[in-house]
Amino acid sequence: MYTISKNQKIEIAADAEAMCRAAAETLVQHIGKTLQTKDVYSIALSGGSTPRRLYALLADDPAFGHQIPWERIHFFWGDERHVSPDHPDSNYRMAFEAMLSHLPLPSTNIHRIRAENPDARKAAEDYVRDIRRFFGITNGDMPRFNCVLLGMGSDGHTASLFPDSPALSEQKRLVVANWVEKFDSFRITLTVPVLNNADLILFLVSGGEKADALQTVLEGDAPTDRYPAQLIQPARGALVWFLDRSAASGLTCFDQKP
Ligand code: 6PG
Repeated sequence: MYTISKNQKIEIAADAEAMCRAAAETLVQHIGKTLQTKDVYSIALSGGSTPRRLYALLADDPAFGHQIPWERIHFFWGDERHVSPDHPDSNYRMAFEAMLSHLPLPSTNIHRIRAENPDARKAAEDYVRDIRRFFGITNGDMPRFNCVLLGMGSDGHTASLFPDSPALSEQKRLVVANWVEKFDSFRITLTVPVLNNADLILFLVSGGEKADALQTVLEGDAPTDRYPAQLIQPARGALVWFLDRSAASGLTCFDQKP
């Protein structure tokens, strides 16, 4: 484990499997610790392909799943594609297939983004209402997720905060419908202040195709609107970057020796 700052660490694993296991270990410990003093645990899931293995481990691997009181875990999403929940690109669908459908979970614990709404802004507003209801907060208050899971694209985006996209500068709203030119589509995403307000932020980044962007995000000085993952700086919580060796290969802290 490498320390970047007092509340930021990097953990480099041999491969994606070991990386997901290390992240599962950290998450299970944090859930256990949090539920000693809290009734419920709130987690915002990330989409894309990287976390699928983590979700499967949490649901199916006795080393992890058996330690989690699933009925006390509430699932949210960091972002969603503007598609229906049964669409192959749906982040909800991925998490449902890899994990949620395997768990003894009341449906009221699943707070998905209703991205099937043709009006993406309306879907974002509905999600804000659900978040406020769950956290018992009103306009102007920031929710404090116990954990936020994030990935990073090879362009340095995270959640659906893409380079040079309108959502990057949002400081008030909790959720926005972010127009993403390259997809010619909206994405619905939690905003930077919400992500940074979490108790624990876990990044999972694997694959050599992300090494350059990761080096820039962690060690470079590129503008944040070019590499939005740099905007993730926990306000008070902790951040752990779980990386595999391929993704970490450009970092100065990376030890060439296998
Ligand atoms: C999404 C994600 C996105 C993802 C990165 C990495 O909806 O796609 O939330 O931010 O984490 O694009 O995706 P991969 O894990 O597929 O490389």
